[in-house]
Amino acid sequence: MCGIIGVVSRDEFPSRFLLERLKRLEYRGYDSYGYYDSTSLKRNLGEIIVAGEGKTRIGIAHTRWATHGGVTSENAHPHMGCDDEVVIAHNGIIENYKDLKVMLEKKGHEFSSETDSEVVAHYFEEKLKEKKDVKRAISDFLKEAHGTFAILMMIKGDDSIYAIKRDSPLVLGMCEDKLILASDIYAFSDITTKAIFFENDEYAVIKKGSYEFYAKDGKRIRKDVTSFTWQQEDSEKRAYKHFMLKEIEEEPLVVARMLLSLEHEQKEAFRRLVSLVKKSRKIIFAACGTSYHASLLGAFYLHTTGIEAQTLIASEFKHYANVDADTLVIAISQSGETMDVIDALKYAQEKKAKVVSLVNVPYSTIQRMSALSLSIMAGQEVAVASTKAFVNQAALLLRLAQEFGYKANLANLAEKIKGLIAQKDEIRRIAKDMSRSKDAYILGRGQTYPVAREIALKVKEITYIHAEGMMGGELKHGTIALIEKGTPVISLIGCKDEDMISNSKEVEARGAKMIIITNNPDYQGKKGKAKIKDVVFIDTDNDGKFGILACVAGQLLAYYAADALGREIDKPRNLAKSVTVK
Ligand code: G6P
Repeated sequence: MCGIIGVVSRDEFPSRFLLERLKRLEYRGYDSYGYYDSTSLKRNLGEIIVAGEGKTRIGIAHTRWATHGGVTSENAHPHMGCDDEVVIAHNGIIENYKDLKVMLEKKGHEFSSETDSEVVAHYFEEKLKEKKDVKRAISDFLKEAHGTFAILMMIKGDDSIYAIKRDSPLVLGMCEDKLILASDIYAFSDITTKAIFFENDEYAVIKKGSYEFYAKDGKRIRKDVTSFTWQQEDSEKRAYKHFMLKEIEEEPLVVARMLLSLEHEQKEAFRRLVSLVKKSRKIIFAACGTSYHASLLGAFYLHTTGIEAQTLIASEFKHYANVDADTLVIAISQSGETMDVIDALKYAQEKKAKVVSLVNVPYSTIQRMSALSLSIMAGQEVAVASTKAFVNQAALLLRLAQEFGYKANLANLAEKIKGLIAQKDEIRRIAKDMSRSKDAYILGRGQTYPVAREIALKVKEITYIHAEGMMGGELKHGTIALIEKGTPVISLIGCKDEDMISNSKEVEARGAKMIIITNNPDYQGKKGKAKIKDVVFIDTDNDGKFGILACVAGQLLAYYAADALGREIDKPRNLAKSVTVK
């Protein structure tokens, strides 16, 4: 949800370096982008094009996911005050921007955008006019501004970048000749492994070769430099048309790596997680989007072993969860930065619940606020639609349930995913057909209910076909009214699940075009007993792996349908990969 970059260098560097770094954060938002390199301000709509002739020693850049104000070049960042004295890039939301704007307008400030962020530039311009020094102005801002922010600010005639943080992520990367401020470490993880993470209400003054950190009262603070490591798959697309397909095809590798880590480098952390689950009266997961669906599958696995487990969409957590000191709250998040999850965890911590997390991006906020955090080790996901992260989240939860007696053979999961990916030509044929429809319904039960919802999410995100994923049993209570001749219905039929077979027959009888994802041999082969043409047969036991594998089949179906429609698969409209606003 917006990415920001700031660079201060000992030597001159090409201004396009700012955009190169920004491009690595493009998954945080891609409505518009811009940069300021101390001589020129450039702002454009759409995808980041790394170009530019100039050279500089300092600059800031921003890629936007629009919240306040439409996708226009006036609303693109960076923003300036009236006299072009102050330039800012902001990620987050200034909640009381209207009050601040009225106050500044009374003092003669004129605004040129509809954003909340622009008030920040005018605010500091006004404070500097009042002859406040910058640090005092920042302390005032931290008192007066409400909301969430990571702000980078440059002031005319000053060779520093001022960086301020509250609730939106901000990190300082240290390279040999440059200091790089960014929304997350991925911006510079290819050129350094050293970083300092900002905490809330801290700010820093970054100059050529030096940095100083301050608390909100202006007192200087000492910060530790963290040496980070992060397994990254090569983030080049290479022969792949889209990152999404590349990431699906990485699933066998990353799931095997994650499972192995639980026997080795994450063994102790895993043991502690098992022990916390044992000691807790109940488990509540908090997550959003795809991670929520993985947590729903996790709740199913744990529940099957007799553990009291439930999951809640993080934005509704405090409305529906009763948590106390005997509750273990497990946050699931790919980015580790989702604001709704962070809020749910803060609420859980206030209620004295123990908070642990499973995250992908290391050193993320959620990881750092958890008493214990395990890495899902999926490596960087570039495509906005999450795929390999889901597989690793679900596999880790299945591995956890095994500790409590859930029977599953995880040793061959990677092989089974490979086998499924090998069926991609057949899946592409089915998907092409599906892509001609305006609606699709996906049905599941038990372990495949969360998967039905996840497949529907994938279909919506990247094809823009309306899709609903639901419980097979619930269909007859309303949604069946929408089934017409030819409506595609994807049915996830676990072996011998007679109820799912009946639910499939109910829609088939009403003319639905059935697509079956199953491990039931009755559907196997063109001459299968069930005589359904569009079948993805997964040769696996019904042991918890089927849910994960059925989801991979759904990811491929959604991908090929979107490809047939010529969609922008890696950057679907209106979405962002990291959602750092409520
Ligand atoms: C966004 C992404 C989804 C993701 C969700 C939760 O909506 O587009 O792909 O599932 O956020 O993100 P998290 O990083 O917490 O898993």
